[in-house]
Amino acid sequence: MAAEQHLVPFLPHCHQHLISAILAMEPSHCLISHAKECGRGSITEQVQNFLWDHCFSKHVDFYAPYLKSFLKKLITEIELDHGYVLDQLYELYAQYMTSFKDGSLGKRDARICKRISFLFPDGCSENRSCSDSRVLVFPLQCSLNMLEGDTGCSIWPSSLFLSELILSHPELFSNKSCFEIGSGVGLVGLCLAHVKASKVILSDGDLSTLANMKLNLELNNLNVETDMPQGNQDSSMVKCMHLPWESASESELQDIMPDIVLGADVIYDPLCLPHLVRLLTILLNRMEPHNGPSLNGLAKEAPVAYIACVIRNIETFNFFLSLGDQAKLDIVDLTDSLKPVKLIRYMQSYNEADVRLLRITCTRTITG
Ligand SMILES: C[S@@+](CC[C@H](N)C(=O)[O-])C[C@H]1O[C@@H](n2cnc3c(N)ncnc32)[C@H](O)[C@@H]1O
Repeated sequence: MAAEQHLVPFLPHCHQHLISAILAMEPSHCLISHAKECGRGSITEQVQNFLWDHCFSKHVDFYAPYLKSFLKKLITEIELDHGYVLDQLYELYAQYMTSFKDGSLGKRDARICKRISFLFPDGCSENRSCSDSRVLVFPLQCSLNMLEGDTGCSIWPSSLFLSELILSHPELFSNKSCFEIGSGVGLVGLCLAHVKASKVILSDGDLSTLANMKLNLELNNLNVETDMPQGNQDSSMVKCMHLPWESASESELQDIMPDIVLGADVIYDPLCLPHLVRLLTILLNRMEPHNGPSLNGLAKEAPVAYIACVIRNIETFNFFLSLGDQAKLDIVDLTDSLKPVKLIRYMQSYNEADVRLLRITCTRTITG
């Protein structure tokens, strides 16, 4: 197994959610809501002791300015509720006050490590009443600065969606050659490697994003390969490619020959969309007879793309659809028919309902 996997000793459901939310660096108000749920409406001394044992006393493992802002909100909430605040929480806050100035959280070049936990219910898929019995945690270095040039070093909602999809429907991706465009921090690739895709190739057009992605793969014990050799595949090997959609050559794309193309939150810049559609058309239009016999005599399935997106601008989205139509891509909205199991319920900042899932195939087949 390539990715870091923690089997956390059994914790009550809401406590597991609270810890997972802290590890993922959810906003403070979400943590407060989880803490209140643990204390059935208030942040009891028992909940504070739990937080002390699992979070604050281990503050070396966390990003201190983040803990400081959570601690401040926690104390304020307990006081507003006329509750008792543990002495050690006050003492730690006083230490933070002298060590960290407010504003250090927003540093432009700051990198932080978020740990994204996927909580698998015990053999009961979507049943809410089940306890979470297996936890898969991926540490990911991210940027604190989502927009200013660090777009690809943040975790976007569509990659959380695709990750849940891969982990809850492994049969769709296992033993398949998978290629991702605009891979960002690399979370989707980690999930593909986890479910044993036969080949995982990640790509991005931004070099600093690519460097951060490689670091994340290594952080999760995967071997990174930067060129594209053929031959024996090591299952813990993930390839990373610098692939700007504008300059990707047809032969370079044809060499990839994936069974599945993935993309999360890649439909947002109208200027890039013609290049994105060109790339999808080449990747999905193999130079071989679709459904013809392959080497082992079995029918080879046509490649398919799963693109997850949040529609922020309907005109941009419609532009993508019209370009796809012109290129004879068959774009089907699967949002209501292929749903992932909810493995990150604790992440209140993530709204799965915002994400649309598109399945794209090419209707125009070139026979070689
Ligand atoms: C909004 S981010 C999404 C990142 C990641 N897929 C996620 O969902 O967390 C878009 C990603 O696409 C990459 N990208 C944008 N335009 C691109 C282009 N023209 N060529 C290649 N990559 C591009 C960006 O560098 C960035 O990593």
